[in-house]
Order: sequence, then C-alpha cells, then structure tokens
Amino acid sequence: MEFRDRRVLVTGGTRGIGRAAVESFLAAGATVAVNGRTAESVAAALKELAAGERVIAAPGDTATAAGCKAVVDAAVAGLGGLDVLVNNAGSGGGGPVGDLDEALWDKVVDTNLKGTFFCTKYALPALRDGGGAIVNIASVRAVMGAAGASIYCASKGGVVSMTKAMAIEFAPEIRVNALLPGAIDTDMLQSLAIRMGDDVETGYGMMSAHTPLKRVARAQEMADVILYLASPRATYITGAALLADGGMAAGSANLDQKAS
Ligand SMILES: NC(=O)c1ccc[n+]([C@@H]2O[C@H](COP(=O)([O-])OP(=O)(O)OC[C@H]3O[C@@H](n4cnc5c(N)ncnc54)[C@H](OP(=O)(O)O)[C@@H]3O)[C@@H](O)[C@H]2O)c1
Repeated sequence: MEFRDRRVLVTGGTRGIGRAAVESFLAAGATVAVNGRTAESVAAALKELAAGERVIAAPGDTATAAGCKAVVDAAVAGLGGLDVLVNNAGSGGGGPVGDLDEALWDKVVDTNLKGTFFCTKYALPALRDGGGAIVNIASVRAVMGAAGASIYCASKGGVVSMTKAMAIEFAPEIRVNALLPGAIDTDMLQSLAIRMGDDVETGYGMMSAHTPLKRVARAQEMADVILYLASPRATYITGAALLADGGMAAGSANLDQKAS
C-alpha cells in the first residue's frame, strides 16, 4: 500500500495507459481523480472501477487552459489536495506533412503539450503543499522520428524538454519525470495499427518486428513505471526521460551485423 493517503490526478484516466495507472494507484491505496473529456466517459469509468469514495470524477478538456483549470480545481477540491499529477491525456493522428492542416496541429499539440503545461501550472500550488511528483507521458517518438508522425513527434519532444525545464524549476520540492512508452496495446495504438497494416494484428506484427523485445506491451507495464516514478522508491530521480519501449530506441532490431 505504497500510496496510502496519497492523492492522485490522472488525466486521460478513462482508458488505455491512464486507466491502467488509475487501477494501479487504487490498488496501492491512493485516492484518485479520473479525468476524461466528458462527464459521461468519466462516469462510465468510475462505475467500472467500483472503488467507492477513493475515486472521484474530474472531467474536462485538457486541450484548453480553461479546461485544465477546471479539471485540476475539481481534483484538488474533491481529493482535499494533490500529491501526484500524471499528465497522460494524449492525442495521436498524422500523415504526410503535405496532407496535414492547422486543425490537426492544434488538436495534437494542444492535447499533448499545452495540456501538460497548463495542468501542471494549475496543480503547482497544491503539489507544493505536499512535496509532490509529476509524471508526464511522452513517447518514444520524442526521441525517434517516424514518417507520418511529425506533429506527434514535435508534441512529445516538447513534453520531454518541458519536463527537464520544470524539474529544475520545481526542485527540490517537486520531482518531474517523463515516461517514453513504445508500442502499447490501447485504442490509440489499435487505430495506428489499422492505418499501418489494414488490421490490428498485421499492424502489431509490423511494430513488433521493429522492437527488440518483439511484441507490443500491455498498458499495465506502463502503469508499473508510472507508479515507480511517482513513488518514494524514485526519490532521487527528477528530470528523467525514461524509455519503456521494448528496446525500440536502442537501435534497429533488423540490422544484424554479426555476419561478416
Ligand atoms: N499507446 C501507445 O502505444 C502510446 C505510445 C507512446 C505514448 N503514448 C501516450 O500515452 C498516453 C495515453 O495513450 P493511450 O494509448 O492510453 O490513449 P487512448 O487509449 O487513446 O486513451 C486516451 C485517453 O486520453 C483521454 N483524452 C484524450 N483527449 C483528451 C482531452 N482533450 N482532454 C481530456 N482527456 C483526453 C481519453 O479520454 P476520453 O476518451 O474519456 O475523453 C482517454 O482516457 C498519451 O499521451 C499517448 O500519446 C501512447
């Protein structure tokens, strides 16, 4: 029960990686505020979680500054303070540069980068009270390019740079770290897999072939890292960009140079 009496806000906690983190924080004794875009999606998640008074709703669009303020205010009021902020809400989408428009740029950058900034800004006073921790969910795409992913890469690279700047600015009271997931089985990755391979299985096969560990990960494997970075086991870690990518960023999985 490492997080007993700790108060946690997970943005984008209704599905995928965020949902797995919510379930793990609850299992570790925390009280958790769950965010998603709508009151309906959050209510449905809370019903499934069935965690009684240890889980509260903090719906709202974190792609706007006003939305972030409403979400953080609801979380801090409902939880009676805040010890951990997980900036997880994210948006994918992409394609060749020539096909991309301002609306997609705004959606992806506002959700992934602006939302992380403004949720952090509004959570800062409450986090300072408790000596808290922030975990920003970036992506392996912060450090590795991919055709068709220019906007997403830009947004996640920004998250990593911002994590480092904030880690310095908020030290020593608050630790700020970024998690860089590789390919994780969620709704977002299934959409990408279908774009890449026509169906999820084919797309996942293509991704696995470029991953040294040869598979897509479960969301729970990311939740384990999120809890670690937020926990007292990571008290000397701040400003880190921690890859959990099955070795993807270590290099090419398919260029074997053993043969001479
Ligand atoms: N899956 C991967 O392979 C992968 C790899 C690297 C990084 N990531 C990152 O990990 C994070 C989670 O991704 P995921 O794969 O778990 O995504 P997902 O399954 O698509 O879930 C996205 C979550 O974000 C919420 N959300 C989206 N836009 C929002 C907004 N504007 N305001 C509030 N909530 C919003 C959704 O809530 P509602 O639908 O309820 O509104 C949902 O809970 C993202 O930052 C993503 O970029 C994922």
